Amino acid sequence: MSRQPSCGSGRWAGHWQQRADVVVIGTGVAGLVAALAAHRAGRKVVVLTKATEFPGGTATYYAQGGIAVAMPDSDDAVDTHVADTLAAGAGLCDPDAVRSIVADGYRAVCDLVGYGARFDEAGPGRWALTREGGHSRRRIIHAGGDATGAEVQRALDVAAAHLDIRPNHVVLQLLHRDDAITGVLVRNADGPGVIHAPAVVLATGGLGQLYTATTNPPGSTGDGLALALWAGVPVCDVEFIQFHPTMLYNGPAGGRRPLITEAVRGEGARLIDARGRSVTAGVHPMGDLAPRDVVAAAIHARMTETGAPCVYLDARGIPGFAERFPTVTASCLAAGIDPARQPIPVVPGAHYSCGGVRTDVSGRTAMSGLFAAGEVARTGMHGANRLASNSLLEGLVVGGRAGAAAAEHAAAAGVVTAEPPEPAVRPALPRQALQEAMSRHAAVVRDESGLAELAGELDAAEPRKLNTRNDFEDAALTCVAAVVVAAARERTESRGCHHRSDYPETDPAQAVSVPRTLEGALVTEVACC
Ligand code: SIN
Repeated sequence: MSRQPSCGSGRWAGHWQQRADVVVIGTGVAGLVAALAAHRAGRKVVVLTKATEFPGGTATYYAQGGIAVAMPDSDDAVDTHVADTLAAGAGLCDPDAVRSIVADGYRAVCDLVGYGARFDEAGPGRWALTREGGHSRRRIIHAGGDATGAEVQRALDVAAAHLDIRPNHVVLQLLHRDDAITGVLVRNADGPGVIHAPAVVLATGGLGQLYTATTNPPGSTGDGLALALWAGVPVCDVEFIQFHPTMLYNGPAGGRRPLITEAVRGEGARLIDARGRSVTAGVHPMGDLAPRDVVAAAIHARMTETGAPCVYLDARGIPGFAERFPTVTASCLAAGIDPARQPIPVVPGAHYSCGGVRTDVSGRTAMSGLFAAGEVARTGMHGANRLASNSLLEGLVVGGRAGAAAAEHAAAAGVVTAEPPEPAVRPALPRQALQEAMSRHAAVVRDESGLAELAGELDAAEPRKLNTRNDFEDAALTCVAAVVVAAARERTESRGCHHRSDYPETDPAQAVSVPRTLEGALVTEVACC
């Protein structure tokens, strides 16, 4: 059998095969903006999503609060937004990366308006601005009240509708030769196949499904992180998993749970316990609008102290709540809570991966031809704790840059051919066992004995053939969990959203981001069957 593929379709070493200049994995904000940029540069772009249909299935859709952007001609400035981002990031942001991304924000939002997105206005031609935790100014634009992600996704879905977007395509492996990308191994309804391509953009989103309950949709299984790690590409800051302070608590059910946007606090709601006492009084000068890590830790401490399963967000004083927050109102009413009359029960919930595949501010990774953008990437923007509403901003800015850089790389690299890969067998814990163990030992507060127990459970993961999307996701989650746990054990301090009860202080000597690979994190990693 020939190992040289022809340009057309046809079986090759048991695989179907195709060609592209740029493969984009993911259809959220970063993926679609990247794909549009690469397409605009004249490249043949193929967009892959494991979701069963397009549009659908992205975390972007669920974003509520908005997009943080320093507006020209306002009381705000890029410098102020940068300073707030650095303060929230607890010493681990890359200041140059923050400045580069923040300074490009207004332009990127204008591009998004060019794609058809519409934001709420305070008056004709003047966007309404709200506030969230850690922001010293009202600088967050929003849409549909609290449906910003849905509007961003809607506009991009329409703008990208003419692109070659393929649902039901699970990318199983990055293919590379001599540290340069040559394509991807994919499974679709026709079985395994290879797309030969000199440039690949990871835009696969986050990893909230590492935990029993999360604000993330079912597809947030750490896929891009695992693909990079399996290919030997370093990740960074993965111990910093942000727990949003206010996920709706409607009993111990798992899966995706509704977010109660931080903008509710920005408009004046207060966090109280069952006795009506403030949760954050005396904790931080910004009170309920302190950065997320501070508020989530304060809620966790109050729940531990009182033994209560949740705290409450009292939004009863906000006039016109239902009009300003229609998504939150609908979620509350569906759970039998009327936010106009009752405090909303909330708990911290797994929300965002501050770390990711290590990139520069144009999404370039350590592997030639491999780019990453959005939540899967670690540009240095978020450090140890992301500032609220900086994620859509980063996805927009870096997504566009990564798409353009991938197009340029593809043009320079020309035609490449991937080797047919061996089918991989990878360690995979059953999903529920993994989520329960992570929720028990690697959530808002961690310690060495819990993390060591978790590492032992991960080491016992059985090798599995990746025959289905579920197998692939379990293996990805197990791989990512192993690296998160290794990083969390090594960081013997508390910083940003990494809280160690056995090391409660911040250690100035550990104010460094440590790139890491899979080596040593999982003892049973297997290369092939
Ligand atoms: C929120 O609306 O509180 C979430 C926004 C974000 O995660 O940045």
